[in-house]
Amino acid sequence: MEPQIEAFFDPITSTVTYVVYDEPGGRAAVIDPVLDYDPKSGRTGTDSADRVLAFLAARRLKLDWILETHAHADHLSSARHIKRRAGGRIGIGEHIREVQGVFKKIFNLEPDFRLDGSQFDHLFAEDETFRIGGLEGKALFVPGHTPADMAYQIGDAVFIGDTMFMPDVGTARCDFPGGNARLLYRSMRRLLSLPEETRLFMCHDYPPAGRQPAWETTVRAERSANIHIRDGVTEQQFVAMRTARDSTLELPVLILPSVQINIRAGELPPAEENGISYLKIPVNAL
Ligand SMILES: [Fe+2]
Repeated sequence: MEPQIEAFFDPITSTVTYVVYDEPGGRAAVIDPVLDYDPKSGRTGTDSADRVLAFLAARRLKLDWILETHAHADHLSSARHIKRRAGGRIGIGEHIREVQGVFKKIFNLEPDFRLDGSQFDHLFAEDETFRIGGLEGKALFVPGHTPADMAYQIGDAVFIGDTMFMPDVGTARCDFPGGNARLLYRSMRRLLSLPEETRLFMCHDYPPAGRQPAWETTVRAERSANIHIRDGVTEQQFVAMRTARDSTLELPVLILPSVQINIRAGELPPAEENGISYLKIPVNAL
């Protein structure tokens, strides 16, 4: 069975959220949903997530899964909001536990913040299979950008998270805590060993001037034209390029709020005695 796919592009964070489903009236998964966030006021918003929910309702889809490819550093996750409204289980890769450990230290989180991933409903092991109604999915372990990245293969489509981007954009950065360019190279080569006609769906697009945002390509197109990882680029060449480039990049605007929310599966930190939830800024720590 071929998956039906609907993409929602958030121009503020350049993130693509997907609904993947078997058929109208059937079962669905939402992948990498965005929670809107205004860093000036500290306000969250659900316009982006509500568009996804409206689509689910319009197609009469029952939500089986809310899948995160990784703990994003550039946008907050609306997994919790979507789950409250539409149900479904929130899943992420099992190595999220390592990411939680790293950031619990950096943010000095509350002592009872759990490092076992139990904020999520399900932790995927490498190559674990799962179902979305009539569709079969497989969780591929593709670390490098973070230690916990997963890609989700559903039918002939693979949602590749932050590994590769569109051929003219290249690849994901590897300089966040726990990132590793060598591992990313190996993860991407694994994805590129899939059949050439496999459809690849991006987590982000940062289109060069003059091109509209796009998020779908193929293994064939990436192997022939990706500016960082096309066939012929060696691991050594990639690591040298990636490391040099990462040293020039600023951190994403929303990294500090994003990580604090996303390692909690989209939940805000516990409210203080006044009922308000706070995010922290670690000074001179990143
Ligand atoms: Fe990311």
